[in-house]
Amino acid sequence: MVVVGTQWGDEGKGKAVDWLTDHAQGVVRFQGGHNAGHTLVIEGVKIALQLIPSGVMREGLACYIGNGVVVDPVHLLAEIERLEAMGVSVRQRLFISESCPLILPFHVALDKARETLRETSGAGKIGTTGKGIGPAYEDKVARRALRVQDLKHPERFAKRLRELLELHNVVLTDYLHAEPLAFEPIFEQAMQVAEQVKPMLADVGYLLHLAQRGGANILFEGAQGTLLDIDHGTYPYVTSSNCVAGNAAAGSGVGPQMLHYILGITKAYTTRVGAGPFPTELAMDVPGTVGHHLSTVGQERGTVTGRPRRCGWFDAALLKRSVIINGLSGLCITKLDVLDGLPEIKVCVGYELHGKRVDILPLDADDIAACTPIYESFPGWEGSTFGATQWDALPLNAKRYLERLQELIGAPIAMVSTGPDRVHTIVLRHPYAA
Ligand code: GDP
Ligand code: IMO
Ligand code: MG
Repeated sequence: MVVVGTQWGDEGKGKAVDWLTDHAQGVVRFQGGHNAGHTLVIEGVKIALQLIPSGVMREGLACYIGNGVVVDPVHLLAEIERLEAMGVSVRQRLFISESCPLILPFHVALDKARETLRETSGAGKIGTTGKGIGPAYEDKVARRALRVQDLKHPERFAKRLRELLELHNVVLTDYLHAEPLAFEPIFEQAMQVAEQVKPMLADVGYLLHLAQRGGANILFEGAQGTLLDIDHGTYPYVTSSNCVAGNAAAGSGVGPQMLHYILGITKAYTTRVGAGPFPTELAMDVPGTVGHHLSTVGQERGTVTGRPRRCGWFDAALLKRSVIINGLSGLCITKLDVLDGLPEIKVCVGYELHGKRVDILPLDADDIAACTPIYESFPGWEGSTFGATQWDALPLNAKRYLERLQELIGAPIAMVSTGPDRVHTIVLRHPYAA
């Protein structure tokens, strides 16, 4: 099973993964890094995960970090220690691919300095999470990255670090007008964390192959969302990895035949953190408006950066693209409860672009920015859907809204989430029964 975000991230993937891993023996992250913020709520207790797969709260479940993930080893250990302080054992069942590129301090410095330059030069920020994600993937593609496996070889690590740092210090100082970084502290810190990371290194692709052959259900946990994908998203306002389902195989070292069911996590409205076009965006500042309602009732603030998320109506024309790119088998609609109490609910069913009607999200970010949404309007519902666990318990208008979404999107709804807690979930077609 693959779980992916179908919008601009923060759709509720973490909650869905935690819920589904009840039926799994292993969970794998295959792209992104600690730019992700996946929130679980279990019996009222909130847990925010960034790099560790969201199945970690299921005791004994194997957790894998695939080769497609960029790993900041200092952050990784901090996250492990945070979980251990809560009484969750991690090290014994976390398997990290040796091939993961490392995020090192100069990647963070480059990420931040570039954003500053974009801002001062008038190009405008991407609004990155500032975690060094983009620069780390650049080094990977340029075939000069330090990888997790290099932590095992201090001399090799030192040599490559020296070369890489020399290059990046030129860019930092001469081009970005930022401070250079010194070799020693980076090297020493890396060697310190290496001792703790080494026992968790593994041949993840092979382990997954063996687990599956032994009959295990493996769940692949996507980070970010389809419209943040480096190829398919609203470029350049995207992250630096492929977030789509197809990358679950390449990003973890298994064959695509292992991916049987693709679950698309879809918020009942739309949000986006950071810059970039967003056709159905609403103003959020004025109390009493829909934008303000979505932002406050939905508590739409970034898990990682604390930034307010931009909010807007559901966009079915965007979802149409997401269904195609990911080959979605089913949908999990989340945060339905946030729409409770709105007198009218709108859904974007297409756009007007340069005098023509289009029924699917355009590919070019400038075209997307020029789109005027065409809306279908629905009456809201009275009463609360919060915490509902049965389809029959939903108000009639909420059911009608969901049924129409399903029709417009062209994929069946498998699950509906009605609150942040693990138990606030309605199952229509259990993905593991498919
Ligand atoms: P992810 O990045 O896709 O895992 O999503 P995030 O965790 O960043 O953001 C989703 C937020 O919504 C988290 O705070 C969740 O606890 C919360 N959440 C998830 N599902 C629901 C839901 O159905 N209703 C409500 N009200 N909150 C939800
Ligand atoms: P989860 O997994 C929402 C956004 C950033 C920025 C762009 C590039 O929690 O859904 P980056 O730091 O990746 O170079 O930033 O991508 N972004 C996310 N937005 N949810 C996320 O992850 C995100 N990860 C990155 O805000 O616009
Ligand atoms: Mg998130």
